[in-house]
Amino acid sequence: MKWALIGIFVLIVASAIADSSSEESEEKTKEESEETTNELVLAEPCDEEACQLPNCRCSSTSIPGGLNPRNVPQFVLVTFDDNVNVINVQTYRNIMYGRVNTNSCPAGVTFFVNHEYTDYQITNELYNQGFEIALHSISHQTPQSYWAQATYDDMKLEFADQKIQMSHFANIPYEEIKGVRNPFLQMAGNSSFQVMADYDLLYDSTWPAQIDVNPGLWPYTLDYASTQDCVIPPCPTASIPGVWVLPMVAWLDLEGVPCAMVDSCFHVPNHEDEEAWFRFIVTNFERHYLGTRAPFPFYIHEWYLAIHPAVRRAFVRFMDMINNLNDVFMVNSHEVIDWVRKPIPIDEYKQKPCREFIRTTCPASNCGPLYSTHNQWSAFWMQICNVCPNVYPWLGNPLGQ
Ligand SMILES: *[C@@H]1O[C@H](CO)[C@@H](O)[C@H](O)[C@H]1NC(C)=O
Ligand SMILES: [Zn+2]
Repeated sequence: MKWALIGIFVLIVASAIADSSSEESEEKTKEESEETTNELVLAEPCDEEACQLPNCRCSSTSIPGGLNPRNVPQFVLVTFDDNVNVINVQTYRNIMYGRVNTNSCPAGVTFFVNHEYTDYQITNELYNQGFEIALHSISHQTPQSYWAQATYDDMKLEFADQKIQMSHFANIPYEEIKGVRNPFLQMAGNSSFQVMADYDLLYDSTWPAQIDVNPGLWPYTLDYASTQDCVIPPCPTASIPGVWVLPMVAWLDLEGVPCAMVDSCFHVPNHEDEEAWFRFIVTNFERHYLGTRAPFPFYIHEWYLAIHPAVRRAFVRFMDMINNLNDVFMVNSHEVIDWVRKPIPIDEYKQKPCREFIRTTCPASNCGPLYSTHNQWSAFWMQICNVCPNVYPWLGNPLGQ
């Protein structure tokens, strides 16, 4: 260490002598140290004193703001993954549209949308229903190991570019796009979070929590080291301020085995048994509602409801029930982050105006055949807002120019 320091000292002196202007070398040293600050540093154990809301929170099951559980609004997060198309929108129109919470605000739903085969005109419709459109990558490609090994540049092409792409083709204001979920719930270490920090993406909802289920883990930031169990490694270990983790707190199936998505639970009731499914959902809900009220997840793919009508009916019954409870609120995912940053008790929460969003129109174009660079033999048709692209948009060319 001592010799290294002396070495650097000698170098600085040497360059100062070589350069007649010592100012120039000073500038150089400054530049170099700036680059060093951008490098990742290992996150330290969380310092509760230093890490305070609204911009920092340690990973913890304790209720934000130290509220009494009975004063905490029970948020319910319904999310659907994958592409949005003419088939699955029928389910969304039938069972999600027009729902209202007891505070008279429209119920929220979050769609984690991937690019391929997505109908952007319908995505625009979902956005204009007041739902949240979030990112689920451009390529959603296999194998899963691609995501585990994805570098910063890979994640930039998948998510930073998808934010531009989604905003353009679905005509959604760029800054309204805030959430990310990686395909296959495969974590990618620090890289996806670094990209999120650099491109103003607020929260990630990829990370399953299987240990902190009862009580459930609340959203937290990555300023300090996470204590969350890493189910699908690699998980981030660097300090990445400004990004929130919205953990996927697991359900417990009938045998107590944790599952991050409802459709990935293994020991489940008979798929034809609506009553048993309703009880299954309510049992999981009550773990949150009668506990510390960590946000209750209902994370699913639409196909599961389509092939199991009884499960769908049970889910509708459940939503009808919670839409009538005066301390339960179905919201868009980013609203949970907003609440955690500034936690307020139920009474105050109910006085707040409903979420606002900028309505947009969709100048519709139906485009195709568009030839793809990732698959030379296939032609694609796209339903979009705005003017048609030249080629099928893909990684490295998100607008298909
Ligand atoms: C994340 O960054 C930390 C700090 O630089 C590093 O120790 C760790 O290996 C990185 N994780 C991955 C998966 O690259
Ligand atoms: Zn997916």
